[in-house]
Parts: sequence; C-alpha cells; structure tokens
Amino acid sequence: MCGIVGYIGERQASDILIKGLSRLEYRGYDSAGIAIANGKLEVRKKKGKIVHLSNDLERAGISGKIGIGHTRWATHGAPNDVNAHPHVSSDGTFALVHNGIIENYTALRESLSSRGYNFTSQTDTEVLVRLIEDVQKNTGLSLGKAVRQALSQVEGAYGIALVSGEDSDMLIAARKGSPLLLGIGEGEYFLGSDAAPIIEYTKKVVYLNDGELIIVRRSGFKVFSVEDEALDKTVHELEWDLEQIEKGGYEHFMLKEIMEQPSAVENSMRGRMLDHDPFVQLGGMMDSIEDLKNASRIILCACGTSWHAALVGEYLIESLARIPVEVEYASEFRYRNPILREGDAVIVISQSGETADTLAAMEEAQKNNVPVYGICNTVGSTIARETKAGVYLHAGPEIGVASTKAFTAQVSVLTQLALKLSQGRTLGDDELKEYVTEMKAIPAKIQQVLDSADYVKEISQIYGHASNFLYLGRGPNFPVALEGALKLKEISYIHAEGYPAAEMKHGPIALIDESMPVVFLAMQDSSYQKVLSNIEEVAARDGIVIAVTDANNGDLDALCEHVIRIPKTIELLSPLLSVVPLQLLSYYIAVMRGCEVDQPRNLAKSVTVE
Ligand code: G6P
Repeated sequence: MCGIVGYIGERQASDILIKGLSRLEYRGYDSAGIAIANGKLEVRKKKGKIVHLSNDLERAGISGKIGIGHTRWATHGAPNDVNAHPHVSSDGTFALVHNGIIENYTALRESLSSRGYNFTSQTDTEVLVRLIEDVQKNTGLSLGKAVRQALSQVEGAYGIALVSGEDSDMLIAARKGSPLLLGIGEGEYFLGSDAAPIIEYTKKVVYLNDGELIIVRRSGFKVFSVEDEALDKTVHELEWDLEQIEKGGYEHFMLKEIMEQPSAVENSMRGRMLDHDPFVQLGGMMDSIEDLKNASRIILCACGTSWHAALVGEYLIESLARIPVEVEYASEFRYRNPILREGDAVIVISQSGETADTLAAMEEAQKNNVPVYGICNTVGSTIARETKAGVYLHAGPEIGVASTKAFTAQVSVLTQLALKLSQGRTLGDDELKEYVTEMKAIPAKIQQVLDSADYVKEISQIYGHASNFLYLGRGPNFPVALEGALKLKEISYIHAEGYPAAEMKHGPIALIDESMPVVFLAMQDSSYQKVLSNIEEVAARDGIVIAVTDANNGDLDALCEHVIRIPKTIELLSPLLSVVPLQLLSYYIAVMRGCEVDQPRNLAKSVTVE
C-alpha cells in the first residue's frame, strides 16, 4: 500500500526512481510522483499509473543524482495530481513522500492552520510536511532533527522519505508501522518500501525498525533511535533474485505465479519433510513445537487470502492434531477485546508480513503476554522480525495483487505444522509417513491441474459475462470456495459468494436460475454424497453447475455442464489442488473481460493501513 523509493549516488536518479516505482506499482497505482534535488528541488507528479509520469518525464526529464518517489494508494483525498506525493514545504526547501496514515492529522491541521499555514491538498501527508516546517521555524533545528521532533507529535503509522533542495547529499527516511529498507551499493544507496526496487542493484540491505530514522549520504548512513541515539545496524543479504520479480514471458504476474505453484509448494517443503522420524522439521519453530502442542487453543489471525488459508489450517490442525483452533480476521481481533488466556498461542499468517491489521493483532496478543508465531513469505518483514518464532513460505516474491502461490504455500506450511503437532500424540509413524509421501507428490499433481488450463479457459469464455457466481464446498474445501469467490471478485469485478455447500438451502438457493454459474468443489471425500445432493438440487432448478472433482469420477457428467478433473489426494490435502482451477477460472475471466489482472481497481498488494 503506497510504495516509496529513494536514490542517492552518481547515476541519474529519475531513471532509478521510475524503474523502482514500476516494480512497486503493485502496492498502489492511484498516482505517482518524484522529487529530485539538483541544487534546487524539482517535483513531478501525475494522477494514475506510473506510465503517465514516465511519459511526462520522457517529454521533459529532470536531471539530478538524488531523489525520492512514490506510488499512491489513496487514503485521504481523491487520487489526483494535487494529492499525489511528493508534498513540498511552503518555502520549497524539502519534499516528502509517505506511506501510512497520520491518525491525528485533523487536530494537527487545525492547529497549523490557526498559525497561518496553508494546505493545498486533502492529504494527511501535507500536514506532516507543515509540521516539520513549523518545528524548523520554531527551533532552528537541522532537517533531520526537525523530522524526528515532528514525528514525536504524530499518531498513526508512517514510512517516510525526504529530500532537501538545500543539501543534495542527504536522504532522510523514518518508519513506524510501514516498512522501509536501505539497499547498500558502491557509493550509492537505494531506499524502498520493499526489496523489489532494490534487488536489481544490490542484495545488501538494512531493515529499518519502528521508531528509527536514517540519514543517508554518499559517504555512508547513520540510523538513529527514537531517543536520537546512533544505532549499529546489521546488514542482511536479500534472498530473492531479479528474475523472480519479472514476468518471465508471461502476460501477467498472476498467471506466472499460478504456474509457479508446483515449485512454490515444493520450496515450502524443501528440507522440511522426511519419510522417517522426525518426519517434519520446521527449523524456525523447533523450540516452540512442544509449547504449541501443549497450547489449550491456537488462534490463527490473518486477512484476505491468508485468512482463507487459516481456515484450511483450522481443519488441518483440529482434525490431525486435535488442538482447538480459532480463526480470526486480524482486523476484528484487536478491536473486540478478545479473550486471551494463559495457554493460548497466536499464529499470524501473512504473505507480505506487513499487513497493518495483522500486525495490530500480533501486538494485541503480545500485549496480553500470549506467544505469537508467524507464517509469512517476505524475509525480514515485520512479522518475521517481531514474532517469537515462525516459518517462511519460501514461495518467492508474489507481485500479482490477487494472491495465488502464497495461498498454496501457506496451506502447505500449515499442513506441515499440523503434522508436526500430531506427531507422538494423534498420528502414528505410518500415518505420518503416508501424509509426507502424499505431500511430496502434491507439486506434480498441481502440475497436472495446470496442464488442464486450456479446458478451464474454455469454460471461462462461456461464463465470463455472468453477473454472479456461487462457489460451494464442504470441509476443507469450504475455505477454497471462499477463496475461489474472492479471486473472481478481486480481478474480474464479478459478484461472487462462497458458501458451505450445505448452507445453500438456507438462502443462496433462492438466487439460482439459468444464468448463474455454481462452482461446486465435489471431491469424492467424506462429504461427497451430501455435495452430490446439493448438485442435484441446483440442477433441478436449472442452475449451471461447474464441478471440480477427482480424476476418475464419472458420476457428475450427466448432472453438470462442466466437470474439471483433478488428481485424487488425501481429503485434508485437497485444497492444495482444488484451488488451482478456481484461480485459473478467475484469471481467464478477468483477461476476457479486459480487466487489469495484476492491478485490480481499488486494491493493493500490501495493505499497510488499518
Ligand atoms: C490484500 C491483498 C490480498 C491479501 C491480503 C492479505 O488485500 O490484496 O491478496 O490476501 O492483503 O495480505 P497478506 O500480505 O497479509 O497475506
């Protein structure tokens, strides 16, 4: 949500900033802008996607070797040129970009207005700019110190970067709640709200923690704490490669990421699954497994697709390990005064590791002295750093806004965790071995599902004009129904609902007519006969049924318009396969409808505001 880039060095900053913004565009695409310091400050900003800004710069470039850039996901104020970042001080001496929300901006704005400051935008960011000016005016402090003092008056979350027209050798950045990292090159530095704009130039990075402020010059950088003390920071090595964040011949990142699922799931298991004791090795959680086994309750907190993975996790952990699990929307958890007791354990699940609601849930649990573990994809993210222990997905970077490979990798990791928690308690060695063997076969089975993509594409061409879809599933495939519906809503803007199949008769059945496709997850598992009855009920009302079922199942051809066959697996593992045709269906429908698959309207990949 909002992307920040910065550069200081000897190259032309605008080239690096535009490229960096393009790599961050999945974080927001309402407007984009840059500010370059070259003896004075030059700012260019444009509503809409980065291409508008880069076209503008092609017509008339800005020369300079230090600058900041921003791609916006609008919170306060409409997406237009005026509200676009960077925002500049009244005297034109510095420019600032911001990711996050200044929650007390109304009070600050009123107080600054009463002291004669003018505002041209509706943003909370401009309030921060004026506040810094005010501190400078009243105290005569340097820009860095004025920023620090102004930030102490701010409530809310921010990742900010500043550049000064008066000092072309200084970049300032600070964070509280919104990620920022510094890439270290040879005599040059790169700032990013994630690694995507940095990876092309260097793999050496420093992650900023909450409350830290960094001053970067060509000769080096200094990080300061909230108390203004200089800090020693560890330099980390990025694990991702440039090619992983490029499309690699695919038309969209989403399709690339759907197709990458065999390797993403394989990587999520690499070195972790053995067909003999200890069966599952989750290195990062080793010291915590006994505590989790003894937990009286495990609470899984997440948002969006990760929340759907958590629901699958509930089935897995409860069925296999027999430990009670609750699944919470992270956004609700914090604000409903949750009951957290000794013996509880919280696991936060997040692709980005930066979702503001999930971070808030993590903090709520920590405040109540409940141990918090993390399952996330982004190495070095806030969740990775601030949880007691955790497991990485190792799915590689996910750029498409609609999450796909992160979901299957999350379900894979949750399966591994459930198996580990079952060991020596509810599952014997033979059962564990059976699960491990089947898990190892899953990547090849996902590939088999992907091989039938053309058939799913054909179906998409027939129903791509529908206005409503219903997705129905039971047991571990109920969350898959929710995920299928979410994927369709997100990228093709078709209204879709996911329901437990048996609940259909309590409401959604009223919607069924000859124009509504109903997607059934109908694997031949313990609830198959019941699902079959539900299919009959839809067929009897002239509904259109698209069924996802096991490879050898011939029952459904007469009843359903279309039958998508996937390889057979163990019931609890079937979400890893059954979700794939639903991802493909939404992808092909969105393409057919001419939608912007990787950058659906109003959405952002990483939601770093509450
Ligand atoms: C946004 C994205 C979703 C994602 C959700 C949670 O809404 O558009 O694709 O599932 O955030 O993100 P996280 O990074 O915490 O998994």
